[in-house]
Amino acid sequence: MHKSCVPFNTPAREYMGQAGRTWTGNACRFSLLALTAVWLAGCNTEQSALHPAGQDAAELADLFWFMTAIGAVVWCVFMGAAVYAILGKKAPRSEKFADRLVFFGGVVFPTIGLAALLVVGLALLPSWAEADTPDLRVHVTAEQFWWRIAYEAEDGTLVETANELHLPNGATAEFALTSTDVIHSFWIPPLGGKMDAIPGRTNVLRLEPTKEGVYRGVCAEFCGTSHALMAFPVVVHEAGEFNAWLEQQRQPARPAPGREAFDAAGCGACHIVRGISEEGAVGPDLTHFGSRRTIGAGTLPLTEANLEDWLIAPEHIKPGVRMPSFATLPDQDREAIVQFLLELK
Ligand code: CUA
Repeated sequence: MHKSCVPFNTPAREYMGQAGRTWTGNACRFSLLALTAVWLAGCNTEQSALHPAGQDAAELADLFWFMTAIGAVVWCVFMGAAVYAILGKKAPRSEKFADRLVFFGGVVFPTIGLAALLVVGLALLPSWAEADTPDLRVHVTAEQFWWRIAYEAEDGTLVETANELHLPNGATAEFALTSTDVIHSFWIPPLGGKMDAIPGRTNVLRLEPTKEGVYRGVCAEFCGTSHALMAFPVVVHEAGEFNAWLEQQRQPARPAPGREAFDAAGCGACHIVRGISEEGAVGPDLTHFGSRRTIGAGTLPLTEANLEDWLIAPEHIKPGVRMPSFATLPDQDREAIVQFLLELK
């Protein structure tokens, strides 16, 4: 009989069909498997600090494993001592022995151990003395709840995009981080440590990707209702590929059908589409929106259906978003806007 068809009151042993395997043993195995799956899911490589794809992240991961190893040794020693205290011989110790134990175990060992960890940790601090010119400068402005991203091109002009970061592999990228409203924090776990984006000041962070791929950056400081929906894909390209991408992003948008519906609905009051509508800069730049991977700063994959849902009920998908609903537009106008946006490659 198939397992899923047994009456629920069948004794577990009967349908296990294997001598020596008990229901509890199986449940235990299953729980372990489920736990492992959950644990592994938490370690998906695109947002894992333990799967480094950058210089700083690799150093941080090494520090993590080093500290974990030291912690494990300390844990074993103290657990061993505890077990010995419970099971070992009960004869009283001399006062001298007790004093020594307290002195070495409570003063000498923690002092040396913590000092060693401090030295290793300090060695990983960025050294500003050797800071030279970065290969790329990127201005990142965090806003509730999205990312304004502007690349400094070689001629000094800025190329603005939003909610998706592209970087050349093996190059040092310097991020100038700020915010327009509250404190946010810019974090790409596989590439390096996080840094706050604070209104009224500019924090500088450098990262050097070492592996091509697509990663996930997040906001790491609670900033309001949709803090958890303030993410961005990070694409690390081979250098030539990155330059081609940046050159393409620098181009104005190509005229596309549906533009009249976009204008009539007033989208241009908040969004810039370079070459087509250059008035509003409140919301994300949409010049090459159709080439992006997600909608609403990493909230949904960019698909036609998701984009239509987003126009109808942005607040439902992302609470606290400033984007108004366009549910009252006639369907054909909304569809025209969706087609127009998808064409903005
Ligand atoms: Cu922005 Cu949390």
